[in-house]
Amino acid sequence: MPLSDTTGAPGPEAAGGPLIRFEKVVKRYGDNVVLRELDFEVAAGERVTLIGPSGSGKTTILRLLMTLETVNDGVIWVNGDSLSHMERNGKLVPANEAHLRRVRKKIGMVFQQFNLFPNMSVRKNITEGPVHTLGVSKEEANQRAEDLLELVGLKAKIDAHPTQLSGGQQQRVAIARALAMRPEILLLDEVTSALDPELVAGVLDVLRDVAQTTDITMLCVTHEMGFARDVSHRVLMFDAGRIAEEGTPEQIFGDPREERTRTFLKAVLETG
Ligand SMILES: Nc1ncnc2c1ncn2[C@@H]1O[C@H](COP(=O)(O)OP(=O)(O)OP(=O)(O)O)[C@@H](O)[C@H]1O
Ligand SMILES: [Mg+2]
Repeated sequence: MPLSDTTGAPGPEAAGGPLIRFEKVVKRYGDNVVLRELDFEVAAGERVTLIGPSGSGKTTILRLLMTLETVNDGVIWVNGDSLSHMERNGKLVPANEAHLRRVRKKIGMVFQQFNLFPNMSVRKNITEGPVHTLGVSKEEANQRAEDLLELVGLKAKIDAHPTQLSGGQQQRVAIARALAMRPEILLLDEVTSALDPELVAGVLDVLRDVAQTTDITMLCVTHEMGFARDVSHRVLMFDAGRIAEEGTPEQIFGDPREERTRTFLKAVLETG
C-alpha cells in the first residue's frame, strides 16, 4: 500500500497525509531509553504488525498512542493532530484534556489481559462507552452491541457476566467493545497471548473478519506470525527502540534481510 507523500511541515494541514505519524519520538524511563528518535507512518486503512523482542518498545508505542504515556521528545500525529500540542489562535500550545479526549476517541485498544468491567453484563460492557462517552441513544447502542456480538459469535451471551465466559470469549467481547466506539484506529497488544491454546484460533478468526469487513486502521503486536501474514500490509521489526527492518509480511517472514530479524523469528518459531 503506497504511503501518502508526507514531505513538508506536518500539522493540522496534513489532511490526506498519514493517519498516524511518529516523528523523532523519544521515550525514556529514567536512564532507560525505550524509543530512540523513532520515525514511522501508518496510512488510513493500513494494517501494520509490530514484532520484536521483549522490551523493544512495542507496548510503549501503543500506550503513547492511547495517551496513557507522554513522549519525552518528538511528536506523534494522529490525523494531523499532535498528541502533545493543539492549535489555539494559530499557535501551538500544550494539549489540554479536551483535546486528548477528542484524539483518544478515534482509537480503540485491546490488551493482553481481558479487562472487561467485571460487574457489568456483556451488553452493558459494550453499550456503556457509546452511551456515556459518545452520546449514542440506548436503542442504537443496543442494536450495535447485538450486531457486534454477532460478528464475534457471541450473541447468545449478551446477558452473561464476564465471569461466566472463557478467556477467549471475554477477549472477543473486548474486541466488540472496542469496535462499538467506532474507532478509526484499533490497537491490539498480544491479545491472544494470555489464552489457552485452544481458544486462540477463535479470537484470531474474529480479527481476520474485522480486517476483511472493515477499513479500520490496525496496529497489532503479536507473536502469531501466521495471523500477521494473513492480515497485515506491513510488518515492522523493532529492536532496542528502533525499527531494525520493515517490509511486507512475505518479505519479512519469507526473506528477512537483517540478522536480528532472522534470529528473532527463529526464536519465536521454536518457542511458539
Ligand atoms: N511504566 C514503566 N516504567 C518503567 N519502565 C517501563 C515502563 N513501561 C515500560 N518500561 C520499560 O520500557 C521498555 C519497553 O517496554 P515495552 O513494554 O514497550 O516492551 P515490549 O516490546 O512491549 O515487550 P514485551 O514483548 O515483553 O511485551 C522495557 O525496558 C520496560 O522495562
Ligand atoms: Mg508488550
